[in-house]
Amino acid sequence: MTKKIVLVSGGAGFIGSHVTVELIAAGYNVVVADNFSNCDNTCFEGVKKITGREDIPLEKVDFCDAEAARALFRKYPIDAVIHFAAFKAVGESVAQPLKYYKNNLQSFMNVLEAAQQQGGCQVLFSSSATVYGEPDQVPVTEQSPRKPATSPYGNTKQMCEDILQDTVKASGGRIKGILLRYFNPIGAHPSALIGELPRGVPNNLVPFITQTAIGKRECLSIFGNDYPTPDGTCLRDYIDIVDLAKAHVYAVTRMVEGKMKADCEIFNIGTGRPVSVLELVNAFEKVNGLKLNYKFAPRRSGDVTAIWADPSLANRELGWKATRTVEETLQAAWAWEKHLAGKD
Ligand code: WQD
Repeated sequence: MTKKIVLVSGGAGFIGSHVTVELIAAGYNVVVADNFSNCDNTCFEGVKKITGREDIPLEKVDFCDAEAARALFRKYPIDAVIHFAAFKAVGESVAQPLKYYKNNLQSFMNVLEAAQQQGGCQVLFSSSATVYGEPDQVPVTEQSPRKPATSPYGNTKQMCEDILQDTVKASGGRIKGILLRYFNPIGAHPSALIGELPRGVPNNLVPFITQTAIGKRECLSIFGNDYPTPDGTCLRDYIDIVDLAKAHVYAVTRMVEGKMKADCEIFNIGTGRPVSVLELVNAFEKVNGLKLNYKFAPRRSGDVTAIWADPSLANRELGWKATRTVEETLQAAWAWEKHLAGKD
């Protein structure tokens, strides 16, 4: 059987690079496309080293350019596309909403239009637990209601979900879709050759922790210790990046093998395990044998108190399950930070 071709838009970034590694390991041909607006070639080079493949096609493409998107679909007989190419900083999206709406919506619509013009393909969209907002009940299932988004970033995730669902419906079976709703992806590849590379001051917890531990940041602020949770800090579902990447392989395989039970399916990708900010910090200190400089600070606006996944649908339907412990993941995150600092 000829190998299926998967286009990974935003494939040089944090999640895209881990997904590329797992797709190649599973026997797919991958075309990586990225405009490098929020990353350099560090992770793409890492992917080549991990896979031992020098020949992975890399296309410098901005998907906001409709013709460039169409050209890519003409150049390769793409069976499935995984769409990551998007801006993702919540705070920045509040300050510059148009930047987010223009980029995140336009690029996805161009991908869908190009796919449609080539006769259709399978589309996997990288969505987020942010679509659930502050949930009424935890854990959240795929049936839990979506809440009004608290940021333009979150709004673009909801809108792209709708855009894909409407496009699938209108396509007469030529486009099929899967929405993966990620909880909090953290960690790095065990090789420490690829990982998260935030530009400037990190917004997310784990890069802030590792940068504080390495001495790049003075002190971690834990945002709020007066939440109605056991230790007063927020609860999240931290999912290992390699586990998360593997979920994509299962989802793509389900699509290309025609095993979907509906033309557009939704899966939560999480562990089902709530972990508090303080627990995460303590686990990081313990597993890596170091002390982290941290302090309690006021709550961050827009944060929800507690959210974690009910991943049973993905477990059952995709045959996928998160396997890594928080400790293993935090070890990998620290190894990556040390790799970046050139200390290994
Ligand atoms: C986790 C917890 C913070 C930083 C966001 C997006 C989501 C997804 C992942 C984006 C919270 C606390 C954080 C710090 C802290 N997609 N925290 N000090 O907000 O759950 O989710 O990122 O790329 O869509 O909304 O993740 O890592 O920012 O925060 O105390 O310096 O850590 O308050 O409780 P979040 P996060």
